[in-house]
Amino acid sequence: MNALVFPEGFAWGTATASYQIEGAAGEGGRGVSIWDTFADRPGTIADGSTGAVADDHYHRYAEDVELMAALGVGTYRFSFAWPRLQSGGAGGLNPAGVDFYDRLLDRLLDRGIKPWVTLYHWDLPQALEDAGGWPHRDTAHRFADYATAVHARFADRIPDWTTLNEPWCSAFRGYAGGQHAPGRREPAAAMAAAHHLMLGHGLAVRAMRAARPDLRYGVTLNLYPVDAATPAAADVDAARRVDGICNRLFLDPILRGAYPPDVRDDVAAVTDWSFVRDGDEQTIGAPLDVLGVNYYARHVVRARQSDDDPPADTGWVGAQRVVKVPTGRPTTHMGWEIDPDGLFDILRYVSERYDCPPIYITENGAAFDDRAGPDGHVHDPERIDYLDRHFRAAHRAIEAGVDLRGYFVWTLMDNFEWAFGYRKRFGLVHVDYATQRRTVKDSGHWFARVATSNTVEPR
Ligand code: FCB
Repeated sequence: MNALVFPEGFAWGTATASYQIEGAAGEGGRGVSIWDTFADRPGTIADGSTGAVADDHYHRYAEDVELMAALGVGTYRFSFAWPRLQSGGAGGLNPAGVDFYDRLLDRLLDRGIKPWVTLYHWDLPQALEDAGGWPHRDTAHRFADYATAVHARFADRIPDWTTLNEPWCSAFRGYAGGQHAPGRREPAAAMAAAHHLMLGHGLAVRAMRAARPDLRYGVTLNLYPVDAATPAAADVDAARRVDGICNRLFLDPILRGAYPPDVRDDVAAVTDWSFVRDGDEQTIGAPLDVLGVNYYARHVVRARQSDDDPPADTGWVGAQRVVKVPTGRPTTHMGWEIDPDGLFDILRYVSERYDCPPIYITENGAAFDDRAGPDGHVHDPERIDYLDRHFRAAHRAIEAGVDLRGYFVWTLMDNFEWAFGYRKRFGLVHVDYATQRRTVKDSGHWFARVATSNTVEPR
């Protein structure tokens, strides 16, 4: 295989999220988030853990920035914890929270690392959930107010502003399937949640852009290529429905300012869409500078034939007569099939189907059952192989004309993997949770060579 050189200026980075790494849940005036409440409820998290301590990044951020510098990270995508900045989801910013992010930002800039912020990576202040959560329209306005206040405080140092991380997960894992906070199982509420998340996004982009038109604004979506398992009409329709609820429900209003009519019909038995008011779709379609794509897997699906078939994904509202078909590809420790071509396919799909702004892969990576070897090192050849193949797929997409500008690996260091707790390790850096000791994995050393040379070497 050849050495693949990426375009000059291509951004290499790592991504994290506040609740997964910060810990210090009760410190510095941080309010309670829906993930604190959810994780405290027995049976919600596989290992019974919470993010109360996590990677203790709140106290160890300086060490973590040094690690990033050693990994050759040029851009660091992280999220603000909303309840750390506005404990109850409204009002003035909490000085101790502002102070923490001030110190983190200054440290990053000092080490030549560009900050890239996500305003919402799932940790809604519990007070806002108590008032109705995302299914409640006012939450969109609370989000826009929060975004405006935080942006006014930090826009001097952050060039890239992402509103939401994976609104599909917030809406459908949180409110339909219940695997994520707040753990509700109300498909109609999930549809309203999806709308209000996007409305909040549009309102926030509009307000932030009015204040600083020179910065870049975007959103991060988890997208999937969706294939029918066979050419049979029922399977093709199954694929259309899943593509609708996972991809187009978000891409269409955000990039075209209108919901896709077929998805409206697919979910008609669940909701009458009365939560959409005049002008909302236009607000959601506010122009963007960047689209963030998180890619982990492809969906191959077919129509359910009988009640003996496995059940549909609870998050696939409007596609409950659809089942996912395993393709036999090797899987990661999450059980997710390893499919680098899927990255190529989804990048092509988005850039061909939409009038799309420049794309960044804001997350891609893999969990494996990493352990430190007797030599004290963490040898993770599977992760190197995974990243190598996905980086090559990204390069192929660029050659095919996709305007891809950067790639952020999920994730900097092992952390609280939501409903799986600490059992899934996605990091380039290993964390020993008993001591908080960080050890750069082999994949981290490998990534540093890619990031600093802008080249994927032959293997
Ligand atoms: C994504 C999330 C991220 C992480 C990865 C594995 O859905 O955005 O926080 O959990 O999956």
